[in-house]
Amino acid sequence: MPAVRHRLAPEVISHAHRLSPLGKRTVGARRREAVMRAVVTGAAGFIGSHLCAHLLAAGDTVVAIDALTDSYDVALKRRNLRDLTRRPAFSFHHADLLDTGLGPLLDGAHAVYHLAGEPGARSSWGPDFELCARRNILATQALLEAVRDRASGAFVHASSSSVYGDARTSSTAETACPRPVSPYGVTKLAAEHLCELYRTAYGVPTLSLRLFSVYGPRQRPDMAFARLFAAAAGGRPFPLYGDGEQTRDFLYVRDAVTAMRDAACSGFTGVADLGSGSPVSMKQAIAAVESLAGPVEVLPSPAGLGDARHTAADVTVASRAFGFRPRTALHEGLAAMAAEGA
Ligand SMILES: NC(=O)c1ccc[n+]([C@@H]2O[C@H](COP(=O)([O-])OP(=O)(O)OC[C@H]3O[C@@H](n4cnc5c(N)ncnc54)[C@H](O)[C@@H]3O)[C@@H](O)[C@H]2O)c1
Repeated sequence: MPAVRHRLAPEVISHAHRLSPLGKRTVGARRREAVMRAVVTGAAGFIGSHLCAHLLAAGDTVVAIDALTDSYDVALKRRNLRDLTRRPAFSFHHADLLDTGLGPLLDGAHAVYHLAGEPGARSSWGPDFELCARRNILATQALLEAVRDRASGAFVHASSSSVYGDARTSSTAETACPRPVSPYGVTKLAAEHLCELYRTAYGVPTLSLRLFSVYGPRQRPDMAFARLFAAAAGGRPFPLYGDGEQTRDFLYVRDAVTAMRDAACSGFTGVADLGSGSPVSMKQAIAAVESLAGPVEVLPSPAGLGDARHTAADVTVASRAFGFRPRTALHEGLAAMAAEGA
């Protein structure tokens, strides 16, 4: 069950929403007034680069770390960093969490946002599992080790809905027993457990946010909407795995990163779902892209091993603990992707 703690640095605590043990807000100044020194791992990635932009806009100083792995075209990761590196409050460190002395980068941090990892359920089978385990489990443990002796604030871990596996109910709450259906989901669940362990053993104020399918401009090229827009622009046909009736809970990236900072400032620890709470079928998702970008050539393909049939977030905990409210409707978010060239 989620628990609540206050280990934020004083200047953050003085502005953060305080939570009672039941997760209710009891005192609060406006969160945006808090100024933080934030460390972001995976900063050159899709969500990480949006998070850095959001933190800078809120007035935070950002220490960004990324190994620029070749999980996809490194040029896209460099592009994600381009505007950020012009900002004086942003510093980028090209470093791998597994072979870098992280101490100096973490000193004085008010919040650590841990997004570095190897995402992707379908690619996590077979020999690639080793990489997935290194980047999702071992890298998380290395970071937690480096953080544990420092008086850091919130440690926000980007976990995944993939820990649930196949949802058996219309939406999956954090109390559901996690049963991943992919090796990737297993690694994200292991990383969650490490976060819990370092919280109970060393008092690191960790929270794992179970992100559902995040979309928006500069989405990872292996993800559905990026591939759909590419297909509509004349690229390769879109492989539709299974019958198209499988549902996904899509969360717009700005809503995701706003929630991450709100969660870090709230004093909440534990586990919370972050999704839109309004799942749509893949057939509906394709139709939504076609309405904006034109016809998509669909290639019927067998259901992927490790793909959950349905995903649906229950955002009650996130809403109570840090005021989470998804604000962006799917069509609006997709229109933003189309406007930015996806
Ligand atoms: N995109 C989603 O819908 C989604 C959903 C659930 C969870 N997540 C999680 O959110 C995080 C970010 O996802 P994303 O879609 O932005 O992925 P991404 O691949 O675009 O970003 C991850 C970044 O981490 C970096 N990285 C990997 N291993 C590293 C290491 N050892 N040291 C330093 N940097 C390293 C990579 O170079 C990459 O830039 C991941 O942990 C992922 O598992 C994403």
